[in-house]
Amino acid sequence: MKNQGLPDDVFDGRPVIGICNTWSELAPCHGHLRELAEHVKRGVWEAGGLPLEFPAMSLGETQVRPTAMLFRNLLAMEVEESIRANPIDGVVLLGGCDKTTPGQLMGAASVDLPTIVVSAGPMLNGKFKGRSIGSGTDVWRFSEEARAGTMSMKDFLSAEAGMSRSSGTCMTMGTASTVASLIEAMGLCLPHNAALPAVDARRRTLSHLSGRRIVEMVRQDVRLSHIATRAAFENAILAHAAIGGSTNAVIHLLALAGRLGVPLTLEDFDALGRETPLLVNLMPSGAFLMEEFCYAGGVPAVLRSLRSRIRGDAMTVSGHTLGEIADAAECYDSEVIAALDKPFGPSSGVWVLRGNLAPQGAIIKPSAATPALLRHEGRAIVFEDIEDYKKRLDDPDLPVDETSVMVLKACGPKGYPGMPEVGNMALPGKLLARGVRDLVRISDARMSGTAYGTVILHVSPESEAGGPLGLVQTGDVIRFDGPERTLDLLVDERELGARREAWRPTQRYAERGWAKLYVDTVQQADKGCDLDFLVGSSGDEVNRESH
Ligand code: FES
Repeated sequence: MKNQGLPDDVFDGRPVIGICNTWSELAPCHGHLRELAEHVKRGVWEAGGLPLEFPAMSLGETQVRPTAMLFRNLLAMEVEESIRANPIDGVVLLGGCDKTTPGQLMGAASVDLPTIVVSAGPMLNGKFKGRSIGSGTDVWRFSEEARAGTMSMKDFLSAEAGMSRSSGTCMTMGTASTVASLIEAMGLCLPHNAALPAVDARRRTLSHLSGRRIVEMVRQDVRLSHIATRAAFENAILAHAAIGGSTNAVIHLLALAGRLGVPLTLEDFDALGRETPLLVNLMPSGAFLMEEFCYAGGVPAVLRSLRSRIRGDAMTVSGHTLGEIADAAECYDSEVIAALDKPFGPSSGVWVLRGNLAPQGAIIKPSAATPALLRHEGRAIVFEDIEDYKKRLDDPDLPVDETSVMVLKACGPKGYPGMPEVGNMALPGKLLARGVRDLVRISDARMSGTAYGTVILHVSPESEAGGPLGLVQTGDVIRFDGPERTLDLLVDERELGARREAWRPTQRYAERGWAKLYVDTVQQADKGCDLDFLVGSSGDEVNRESH
């Protein structure tokens, strides 16, 4: 290490802090992380530690093909082995885009050193023709308008530029903002980490303070598993319902819990979130964006509204309990963050559905759905895979009307592979032209946290794993009853048995490399889509060395 210009007395037994940096020009959300790393280092030096930055795979949601989710577990493996294999006493995780924070945390959890998250932070609000626009959410809306011919390409490109006008992650309550908010509710970062804009000087200050704090955590031996307890996961689920968070967070929290040995099931999300109303008025469930969320008080203000519900005794990396953080918080704008008794909407967590179409569960985000469609019976229009869907979507002869139920197969963890965000299928052109803006849609895929619609996701088991979704045919009747939490295919058992006999997996995936390992070992969505042999922890001890 001397070749980096480090003096002798730096090797005096001081804590070595690894700064796990996912900076990359290929991940636009992470383009400014080198700068934040420098601020973390200042804090580490100041507190008497030795900061050493190391890279980890960067998963830019907008660039990585075929889908970033295919590589979340690969990032987790890289982070785990990088931390364990190197002489590191504590770690600061720098990430932000959708799959990066979960992947980093899963890897760190399987080592279980003292750990702090510093997020990239959201972009400034998007702006177009004088009004605020949200990343993702307005892209879906604009692209539908462009397809329907009501928005010009010039305006579309201008909106795109106005939407991405600063460093940072998507500034809607999409997956990145959701995960960052839940990490904060779990106490795995310093207060206000989720909402401070990427370019706000206070994010650099927070990075500096996180550098100081991780050194203290090493001295106090405060490990990740001491913070990420069952109580912390319960707080995350309550916060998830209150913020109207992304459905993707369900998968990530389940996977993280699996690494830590914390008991957590799909049903916990429905049971804990059921009585928690929508308290945050952000797109896609509401009107505002992350800048307003920050100025209104951010996650601490939400926790204050939730004070009577949260497990206030849960410890955080700040050294304070979550209850203490909530008690010290204030809400500065009740248009953005509501009190518990004056919510913006009813329960907005996820509903967990079961039935003969989803024996291991499926989920829907009711706050993003059309209320009138939350109880619906209709005939299926089936797409065998995403290519089939793209090919036939605008076919004028497609047998679809406003009562149809769109069904997409082969988009689960094994089937795609990697479970892409395609569950919020765009509607057929001929329905859009008639002014139809929502249909019930069902798949084994995920959807972007910025998307909306009556979209039933994560059907488990997926079609490629032999789940009943693979047996649905166009014209079958499907009954969805959200309030009763059921999802059923109304086809008699004898007919289903015959279809099961004839069913074969598509097996179109790679025969080698990461994709093969992934398909062979990935768990279903109800378990968090981790690889089966990565569940659990191996600790930080390495008992042999070759020097
Ligand atoms: Fe990175 Fe949305 S694309 S957070």
